[in-house]
Amino acid sequence: MHDLLEILADGEFHSGARIGARLGITRAAVWKRMQKLQHQGHAVESVSGKGYRLADAVELLDAERLQQLSGPGCKVVLLTSLDSTNEHAKRLIKAGQPADVVLAEEQTQGRGRRGRPWQSPGACNLYASFVWPVTEGMRQLEGLSLAVGLAVLRCLDDAGVTAAGLKWPNDVLVGEKKIAGVLLELVGDLADQSHVIIGIGINVNMHRPAGEIGQPWTSVRQQLGRPLSRHVVYGSLLGHLRHILQVQKEQGFAALAPQWEARHLWQHCRVELSSGASRVLGQVVGINARGELGIKTSQAVQYFAGGELSLRLAGDS
Ligand code: BTN
Repeated sequence: MHDLLEILADGEFHSGARIGARLGITRAAVWKRMQKLQHQGHAVESVSGKGYRLADAVELLDAERLQQLSGPGCKVVLLTSLDSTNEHAKRLIKAGQPADVVLAEEQTQGRGRRGRPWQSPGACNLYASFVWPVTEGMRQLEGLSLAVGLAVLRCLDDAGVTAAGLKWPNDVLVGEKKIAGVLLELVGDLADQSHVIIGIGINVNMHRPAGEIGQPWTSVRQQLGRPLSRHVVYGSLLGHLRHILQVQKEQGFAALAPQWEARHLWQHCRVELSSGASRVLGQVVGINARGELGIKTSQAVQYFAGGELSLRLAGDS
């Protein structure tokens, strides 16, 4: 699909015959691919005598620009299509050629937390995996997923999405709608050499669902009422992430916890926390220096670590 998007990206009309000639396919095949593009969430207009165009021009990711934004010492890998940027980052580590950042225009098997899929249509959102070597052992990882959520939130602040907030452990929401997600994966042995893959997905310009998204969602574009350059979003995300990771490494999550709490959407709310069949009902009191969530039940305040836990507002069905 990327070759077709490259032709249509400018938002101008292109005749079926010329598209077919450039791609080496018949006009009927061009029409079929337009249907597929439409299905992926891109609005395609077709006018007889003029050809096809995208209702909205798109800005494709540019490897050179991403490299420039990242700086010379940072190895950036951009691919048009990947199963998952996290998986590719892992493969590169295992092959002894680690990248610092892996990005893709689309993911065919994008993954979310707790085994859920992450819908990743092409040419509209940001899918990036940042590779962070673990040098300080467990201490470096405590609260890390919350810290990354805070970096994503600051990037959304920069973009002008003022209504976004955090939901423990690392959801980034506008109201109850998901706008970004974080998936951390550890590769290697903590006692020996290991890396954390920091996978971040931000719904930047998605404005129609591509396939089934199993939860309410929104995007930067929906919030601002206009599209935003993904290069700008990437530059801002990288800046905030680098700063937050430096604080995390030098001072630990304790130094970030008050800022995180200040943006917690469910602070002091009554919630239900579940893990498998067990449930805890109570009021959120905050988080501790390790990023664990404190819930005041009828007995006492108990702290819970992230992992497979799921949190919802008490009384929500
Ligand atoms: C969540 O469930 O909230 C986490 C979503 C994380 C999605 C990102 S997109 C880039 C990276 N690659 C993946 O397959 N997942 C993460």
